[in-house]
Amino acid sequence: MIEANEANTPRKEPGRVAAMFDRVAPGYDRTNTVMVAGQDKRWRKATREALSLQPGERCLDLGAGTGVSTAELAKSGADVVGVDFSLEMLKHHKDRQVPLVNADALHLPFADDAFNAVTGSFFIRNVVDLDACLAEIRRVLAPGGRMVLCEVSQPVWKPYRKAHGVFVKHVLPKVASRVASDPEAYKYLSETTMAWPDQAAFADRIVKAGFRKVAWRNLAGGAVAMHRGFK
Ligand SMILES: C[S@@+](CC[C@H](N)C(=O)[O-])C[C@H]1O[C@@H](n2cnc3c(N)ncnc32)[C@H](O)[C@@H]1O
Repeated sequence: MIEANEANTPRKEPGRVAAMFDRVAPGYDRTNTVMVAGQDKRWRKATREALSLQPGERCLDLGAGTGVSTAELAKSGADVVGVDFSLEMLKHHKDRQVPLVNADALHLPFADDAFNAVTGSFFIRNVVDLDACLAEIRRVLAPGGRMVLCEVSQPVWKPYRKAHGVFVKHVLPKVASRVASDPEAYKYLSETTMAWPDQAAFADRIVKAGFRKVAWRNLAGGAVAMHRGFK
């Protein structure tokens, strides 16, 4: 098991992270889709299906970015609101029907028990205090409400895990330093991915935050995982 040392990841100060996402916002969605070879659409759909949202339910999408994930969730007929602390990401939103709020996930501007479901895709790895964020998610969830978090994780098959590790640690920052418009963002991506806990360690933190029936489902051979828990 990898030690959960994500809190030690350098450069995770909220102002710095928000400023980095502000810089990459104009090309974020296109670059993201290219980097994951178009799998992002499938992962967004899987997240919506895992939440089993019903029309009229209230759902919060944390780290919504340009709102692409929020729009996917809204297809369920639920009332979905996206939150992001990068104003530039929000300014590049693609679907003006979906409400997006500029706020920090560690200090949500919502009442206790306000949502039936809370989710976030590739967001929670970026927060400076994981346990505080899980506590804040739990606060705004109604009793019995569910949380689904889609995040990078550890490939299950050993040879793939090794190759993936080499790619993330060595190839990604090198390629980025030559071709990317913002190499710093790719170094950050590499660092935070390496430091993020594996499936079991992250599940453990979710249990410790007070969630019940915690489980995960691997996507892309475990390079991505969806974790679920109930309040
Ligand atoms: C990698 S992007 C993912 C965007 C979108 N969910 C997706 O799947 O394409 C992570 C987003 O989380 C946001 N974010 C990170 N930490 C945050 C925090 N503490 N509060 C609110 N938003 C945050 C960033 O600004 C960024 O837009």
